[in-house]
Amino acid sequence: MEEKKNSRRSFISKFAPATFWGSLAVWGGSLLKFTMPTLLPQETKKIKLGMPTDYPNGTIKVFEKDRVVLFSDSEGLFAISTICTHLGCVTKWTGKGFDCPCHGSKFDSLGEVVRGPAPKALKWYKIDKLPSGQLSLNLGESVDFGKKEQFYV
Ligand code: FES
Repeated sequence: MEEKKNSRRSFISKFAPATFWGSLAVWGGSLLKFTMPTLLPQETKKIKLGMPTDYPNGTIKVFEKDRVVLFSDSEGLFAISTICTHLGCVTKWTGKGFDCPCHGSKFDSLGEVVRGPAPKALKWYKIDKLPSGQLSLNLGESVDFGKKEQFYV
């Protein structure tokens, strides 16, 4: 009986410190990851849009999952991020502009701030024409506010 008690005590004394240090390492790693900025570049996502003729003047296409809205007007194509410039909530395209549900910011149809607390306009993304003639929306690269792309067919 005494021998059995010793083996249990021996087992606990061996594994308790390992459990403690293992838990501490996991907790410390999580804390470090939380406090550190992302050092590696994020993966750049590109969306194939199809041919320029697929986007006649007046087109508005919402890519809800990718958090971007694509527009076509007489001056060209442009894509506006729906991520709010205040604290990063996802705004909603209303048909006239973008509304942020978190703190009430409003943006006009070009993404310019109409009402704060958002400090600046929504981001515009780059649209490229591929050698195949297809268009590609680059969510990893922004362009200057108001820069519309003309893709002549
Ligand atoms: S995150 Fe949009 S208003 Fe605060």
